Amino acid sequence: ISRGMATSSAMRSSINHVTIVGGGLMGSGIAQVAAQSGHKVTLVDVKEDIIKKAEESIAASLKRVAKKVHKDDPGKAEEFLKTILANISYSVDLQKSVKSTDLVVEAIVENMKAKHTLFTSIDSVAPEHTVFASNTSSLSIGEIASVSKRKDRFGGLHFFNPVPVMKLLEVIKIDETSEETYQKLMNWGKAIGKTCITCKDTPGFVVNRLLVPQFIEAIRMLERGWHEKFPEVELFKPVETLNKLVSEGKLGRKTGEGFYKYNTPK
Ligand code: NAI
Repeated sequence: ISRGMATSSAMRSSINHVTIVGGGLMGSGIAQVAAQSGHKVTLVDVKEDIIKKAEESIAASLKRVAKKVHKDDPGKAEEFLKTILANISYSVDLQKSVKSTDLVVEAIVENMKAKHTLFTSIDSVAPEHTVFASNTSSLSIGEIASVSKRKDRFGGLHFFNPVPVMKLLEVIKIDETSEETYQKLMNWGKAIGKTCITCKDTPGFVVNRLLVPQFIEAIRMLERGWHEKFPEVELFKPVETLNKLVSEGKLGRKTGEGFYKYNTPK
């Protein structure tokens, strides 16, 4: 990533300074990708020793990136590393950190009470325009946002582990999320190099909603033995939607219509 590219993408997203709360596995990754794309980042956690660990893991990860990007030029690799590291500052003072920030991404422990306490404590401190987002995997964004007075400037940004590698970003809208906020979140997601998809605030959003039942089914398969047939199992029963489509001759591309309409002739 060149510096020029990084700076212009930061400008496009209209979010320049980001505060990441929680310097664990996810928060460190989010801080890294934001810094790599030219954003100014403050990473906040509760204790200095945790901050120190986050700082070390980000530096180690960025060193690997620098070596890859400038594999034939150690001087350039060093400069690349220095520039990106300079974009990140670290703090244990949340209130101070959000005083002039454009976006807060919360990546703390998966606990509703902890998230409520956090967002309550920054609501009246952060500037009016600041957008709040949670990286929760399993909690409702609407319920997290319920304690906030800025529900129109609230949404979900659900990253995947490891953040610097995984391309997908789920952008979650709650009923109150304004169009402007949603666009800001989408633009920022794109500016940090992610492929963004829009999700409703439903359990598991899109990926985990599909993935978790699959995991569980794999375990069930293991439990009941791979080769036995269980026709009474709900999962194998015919699906009404599919039956209807087939009975209407909507067989997909070959008939011009299935779940989607195709332009190809029937
Ligand atoms: P983690 O346990 O690695 O990190 C959480 C960090 O938050 C810790 O460093 C902790 O000290 C800090 N923290 C706790 N309370 C805090 C507070 N009040 N203020 C500031 N910092 C605080 O957890 P991880 O895995 O990074 O998960 C964080 C969030 O991201 C959770 O909501 C989780 O559901 C979500 N998530 C996790 C994924 C994963 O694969 N681990 C994937 C996508 C989302």
